[in-house]
Amino acid sequence: MIRKFTRREALIGVSSTLLLPACSQIGIAPDAASNAAFLHGIASGDPDATSVVIWTRISHSDNAADVGWRVATDSDFQNIVARGQYRTDASRDHTVKVVVDKLNPGQEYYYQFDVDGIHSPAGRTKTLPVGHVDQLVLAIATCSNYSFGYFNAYEVIANDPTIDLVVHLGDYIYEHGTDGYGSETGRRIGRNHAPAHEALTLADYRQRFAQYKTDAGSRVMHARHPLIVIWDDHESANNPWMGGAANHQDDEGDWEMRRAQSLQAFYEWLPVRDPRNGGTREEYWRHYKFGDLASLITLESRHTGRSKQIDYEDHVGGIKSKTDAQEFIDAVVGAPGRNLLSDKMKQFLADEISESVQANRRWRIIGNQSVMAKRIAPKLSDPFFKKLGNDLNSDARNTLDSLTLLGDLGLPTDLDSWNGYPKARENFYQICKDAGARDLLVLAGDSHSYWQNALYDDAGDSMGVELGATGITSPRSLLSLGQEGLSRFDAASAADNKEVVWTEGHYRGFIRLEIDHDGAHADYVTVSNVESRDYNVQVVHSVHIESRDGTLRYT
Ligand SMILES: [Fe+2]
Repeated sequence: MIRKFTRREALIGVSSTLLLPACSQIGIAPDAASNAAFLHGIASGDPDATSVVIWTRISHSDNAADVGWRVATDSDFQNIVARGQYRTDASRDHTVKVVVDKLNPGQEYYYQFDVDGIHSPAGRTKTLPVGHVDQLVLAIATCSNYSFGYFNAYEVIANDPTIDLVVHLGDYIYEHGTDGYGSETGRRIGRNHAPAHEALTLADYRQRFAQYKTDAGSRVMHARHPLIVIWDDHESANNPWMGGAANHQDDEGDWEMRRAQSLQAFYEWLPVRDPRNGGTREEYWRHYKFGDLASLITLESRHTGRSKQIDYEDHVGGIKSKTDAQEFIDAVVGAPGRNLLSDKMKQFLADEISESVQANRRWRIIGNQSVMAKRIAPKLSDPFFKKLGNDLNSDARNTLDSLTLLGDLGLPTDLDSWNGYPKARENFYQICKDAGARDLLVLAGDSHSYWQNALYDDAGDSMGVELGATGITSPRSLLSLGQEGLSRFDAASAADNKEVVWTEGHYRGFIRLEIDHDGAHADYVTVSNVESRDYNVQVVHSVHIESRDGTLRYT
């Protein structure tokens, strides 16, 4: 069923009866001075039961500043429960990050900053609940590329007051310059990346975060909902692994230095806790507990354990038959020792899944960067594709020919995702199985398509389900195949893959996931347009999930 909202309805929320008091003032700058001093808005996130991070950045002066902050239980700030001063300066790019503690579990709070007598917009946040929890509503977002469009989907999230938390699965920024990915659209709609060159240094990544945080949808979403965010590849550079990245060249300096600087900017510009207990910035994983209802465990699969991606370009010449293809899958893609997760990450996963099972929480949600389900390229035997090939230019025809070959040989797609690391995927499942969990609700970003997947390990045991979010703005790849070609390609993917129930790359948007003790309901919410601020909102697909026989099923 498709539910359709006009933009006006989207702006005031899914239903006006659901609006919280004073919600409309949350995130709105009180005056021009506020806008100048707090140009990049405010944000909160990385909550636990008794504390939450609040964040802002001071932009009206290059001097060091003493920034006041206050937290109240009401939006009028009559009942202030915490306050303090935070000194910021150029060493942290004038960002402000406070861990506000000694709060009550599961409570809504309001927060505000002031500097030089100027007040920031007010923000709303929430601590994690304990004990019995009836319901949890998450907005699942990923792949927000400034050059590809306006963050209208963020605005839709902002205006849904029933959302408890935004979970951003990475690609919060993109590193490319104005001659790279998205630049053509950026020029057309006036959203060119800043700096104009590819982000390489700390100053570059800081400037890129700053630009993204001027987007109106971003400002209002962050003010109204707390954030749980993980990084994917583009917060540093496309397709990284432990020794480099596909988009890091030798003349761009030292990879480890670049990665370290990109992550410094991430920690400065997002409401996340700094590393604790001797951990490094790269070791970024968490277990968020929602009383007796859910665990959300986040993964780090980019910078702490990942082996180099396999590139078909290096192998395709030698794969002439199905036998060659099988040998490639077994010996190259499936080579032992090809990792995605570090040993420390795996130990954390084992411990926390086990804790979650012991605590008898109803749901185990995995916040994960890339698509986990096993997917082979579909067979493009439909005569439509032959005809399409005749109509395409040579580049697009080459793309179609490559896809056709992969499909004929039954080879996997997207080797940067878990598909390129089948041993690591099996090991991940084994860790969860050993800890007593086959009921995983895996969330995935990165792909710029929507997915409804069912997960199985190599023994054929159901391991749960996977919901994949499309980009907030980033478009799917293979656009040269045209809309009908892509729709048929997606339909063929679902038909040829046991684990793919439904996929569709046509849309931009997010997933609204509502869970309670009886089941989970996911709406795939899309915006009709990202190249201007005019858009409609539609739910293009909905799924219902139940926990049954120790695993999860679509019903
Ligand atoms: Fe992306």
